[in-house]
Amino acid sequence: MKVVVLGGGPGGYVAAIRAAQLGGEVTLIEKSTIGGTCLNIGCIPTKVLLHSAELFNEIKDSSKFGIEVSGDIKVNWSELQSRKKIVVNTLVSGVRSLLAFNKVKIINGVGNFETKNLVSVTKENGAVENIEFDKVIISTGSIPVIPPIEGKDLPGVIDSTDALSLNNIPKSMVIIGGGVIGIEFANAYNAFGCNVTIIEMLPFILPPVDREISEIIKSKLNSEGIEIYNNCKVTKIEESGKVLSVAFINGDKQLKVDAEKVLVAVGRRAFIEELNLEKAGVKTEKGCIIVNDRMETSVDGIYAIGDCTGKNMLAHVASEQGVVAAENIMGKNVKMDYKTVPACVYTKPELASVGLTEEQVKEKGIDYKVGKFPLIANGKSLIMNEISGIIKIIADKKYDEVLGVHILGPRATDLITEGALALRLETTLQEIATTVHAHPTVGEAIKEAVLAVNKEAIHMINK
Ligand code: NAI
Repeated sequence: MKVVVLGGGPGGYVAAIRAAQLGGEVTLIEKSTIGGTCLNIGCIPTKVLLHSAELFNEIKDSSKFGIEVSGDIKVNWSELQSRKKIVVNTLVSGVRSLLAFNKVKIINGVGNFETKNLVSVTKENGAVENIEFDKVIISTGSIPVIPPIEGKDLPGVIDSTDALSLNNIPKSMVIIGGGVIGIEFANAYNAFGCNVTIIEMLPFILPPVDREISEIIKSKLNSEGIEIYNNCKVTKIEESGKVLSVAFINGDKQLKVDAEKVLVAVGRRAFIEELNLEKAGVKTEKGCIIVNDRMETSVDGIYAIGDCTGKNMLAHVASEQGVVAAENIMGKNVKMDYKTVPACVYTKPELASVGLTEEQVKEKGIDYKVGKFPLIANGKSLIMNEISGIIKIIADKKYDEVLGVHILGPRATDLITEGALALRLETTLQEIATTVHAHPTVGEAIKEAVLAVNKEAIHMINK
């Protein structure tokens, strides 16, 4: 089976490896660097910055832990930038070796459809190579959305890619958009000493997150000195001496904030314009490729995965969709299940959730109950001095089935896998409660939150 994969991000490279494992003769076409947005300009480099930001804060706070540090504690920005490059390059070369081991052929160039069974690849030197295939997986990702705000093209107005590689730490930054990208960069730059202001259109930040949790994060960010304006619409960005001035409105109030940089983080959109999809007859809707849960497009033999399908724009979703597409191509019959997709935000403390939020269960009219356990009552969190978090469990009232797990706390992004597995197995509260959780861990607070649903938590007063 000749399989072509268009795009080598976490969707495409995983799909390529899986198809090759199952016996496919796979060609991966990538116009830039293997690893896509995630490895090169997304998940990985941002977490390198955030990890250093966290370390920086911990060192500044070290006396609380009985550690005295003498001398100036400073951020060495160029060292941090080179560490970022080393981490990214290590992972990219690891992926390249995996592809080579699995005998995936990589072609560097821009691929576009000539027919439903032929793509032409235009290489950097202008040479064109035609490749025929039996099946193709489109995995061309997404790019940042830049809204039509006056002044958006001024120097100093940046997107998330630029924000990763600034020459120095700016003194001040306005972030337009209080979604995941905005909040993560706000955390990092604020920790590095930049004065950060967030301007968000909606009445809350982090729209998909359980509202109670996003409100806690919001006050934490405020207490760290990040100014957040909700219900605001940016009207104009203009140069004002050496800085940029961002004008915005809140109801009938006209407001203005000056900053050295303005980061626009108002979402991403599918990137499919170079593909010539019309030549293959692939249908799109609102700029995204239409797929079913087998990752099939409207054209037989053409599959699409990842951000270009406009589903959950997350690397782990793209990878899972890649496995589903590759397995279906190679003769299995599998479907993508979005129920167990965790969402993670790398704030401090981290935030991770899976399943339904309280707003969603209400909207669906589900009879539900909630259990909450504050991490101030958890030994490990206290040891780590990370006590502002909370674990919230949402369960079905009749069957005690776990419907949502929301963790705000240290290592939340690692802990959430227990929640994802619980949802995958349609677990009841009883099943988690009777699973022995190690002590002392943050994870044991998940069990306590589960017990709290029926007012049976041991380490807090059940009200
Ligand atoms: P997003 O959709 O998460 O958030 C965009 C925010 O901007 C929303 O709160 C929205 O209300 C607001 N907004 C939209 N237009 C606005 C305007 N004109 N003025 C003010 N606010 C406005 O998009 P974001 O943060 O850019 O992230 C893009 C994608 O990347 C998302 O799908 C996200 O899930 C993914 N991502 C995931 C990460 C993770 O899993 N940790 C990290 C970074 C990105």
